[in-house]
Amino acid sequence: MTINVTWLSHSCLLIDTGDATLLVDPFITGNPLAPISVDAIQADYILVSHGHGDHVGDTVAIAQRTGATVISNFEIHNWLLAQGVEKAHPQHIGGGFDYPWGRVKLTIAHHGSALPDGSYGGNPCGFLFYIQGKKIYHACDTGLFYDMKLIGEEGVDLAVLPIGDNFTMGPDDSLRAVKLIEPACVLPIHYNTFDVIQQDAMAWKTRVEQETNTKVAVLAPGESLAL
Ligand code: NI
Ligand code: MN
Repeated sequence: MTINVTWLSHSCLLIDTGDATLLVDPFITGNPLAPISVDAIQADYILVSHGHGDHVGDTVAIAQRTGATVISNFEIHNWLLAQGVEKAHPQHIGGGFDYPWGRVKLTIAHHGSALPDGSYGGNPCGFLFYIQGKKIYHACDTGLFYDMKLIGEEGVDLAVLPIGDNFTMGPDDSLRAVKLIEPACVLPIHYNTFDVIQQDAMAWKTRVEQETNTKVAVLAPGESLAL
């Protein structure tokens, strides 16, 4: 079965496995690049990488409307339950869990995680998905770290990496990340949403494809790729 990955701008991904719809970091309200309205999004599971507003985003509203189960670290899980989310599954870094649609493991990420109201959000994370024999690594918000090589050793089909700089890896470090992970394909994210993270994704694609064997998929917000 084909897995369809749609980039909804910033760090937000919609992964349609054929069996389930997974929504990662649904930042729609207040996102100038969002290609869809909050009320139009369907989700069976929502994954939240860390507590910042541009990642928690519309999680509570979408979870309440769709009945989706929210996957996050334990601290954000507790906060979401207190906000009125009914179905949530806590995990933590290094831990994986088998869901009906496949498995997801939480990876390290070097970043912050305070929640919008100042609550403690634990440590930020990335996600390594195992779906129908394919592996998708969504780094979420992070700086470069050498342990990306360990993630790459699993054989990554699609890496989703920030290139925006300022808050996360910029183009130079993201290119180094591609060299550590060696994914078949990479999708650049977390750029152009705000003035301080403007980047030329097509220029980055040229550099990556000159220096590595990885294919770069530059998507417009709302565009999809198939795995
Ligand atoms: Ni952040
Ligand atoms: Mn962010």
